[in-house]
Amino acid sequence: MRALLAAPLFALLALQPALAADPEAGAKIVKTQCGACHAVVAGKNLVGPSLAGIVGRHSGSVEGFRYSEANKKANLTWDAKTLDTYLTNPKALVPGTTMTYAGLKSETQRADVIAYLATLK
Ligand code: HEC
Repeated sequence: MRALLAAPLFALLALQPALAADPEAGAKIVKTQCGACHAVVAGKNLVGPSLAGIVGRHSGSVEGFRYSEANKKANLTWDAKTLDTYLTNPKALVPGTTMTYAGLKSETQRADVIAYLATLK
């Protein structure tokens, strides 16, 4: 009986990180993990393109940024799913990208980062 009750409870707990994506925590992660290369204000490109409005944007389309051939040809739309894959391991999704970032291994942290990126207009 106890085992029968426990199963749905575990299922609920497993869902929690996705439900609890925290944009404020994401802002802090972006500042420390991405901030050296990416600004979050529109029109400001550093080593990497501005992340303003990145969610929903087509890859390689930030104006004034000189992308690598790899990023130009990636042909992705940056949504929660593609960003999650990319941020796990950028070079796996876009082989040859010049984004030298090893990846964010924590699923919770990626969800937080994406929740924050979605607030940037
Ligand atoms: C060491 C510098 C560096 C760090 C750290 C870094 N990036 Fe990047 N990022 C780049 C560069 C450079 C590019 C352009 C890559 C290319 O042209 O191949 C890029 C590209 C991107 C793109 C694709 C943009 C587009 O318009 O197609 C996204 C999304 C992105 N970065 C998000 C992030 C996030 C989120 C973080 C932090 C978790 C991060 N990056 C950390 C340098 C960095």
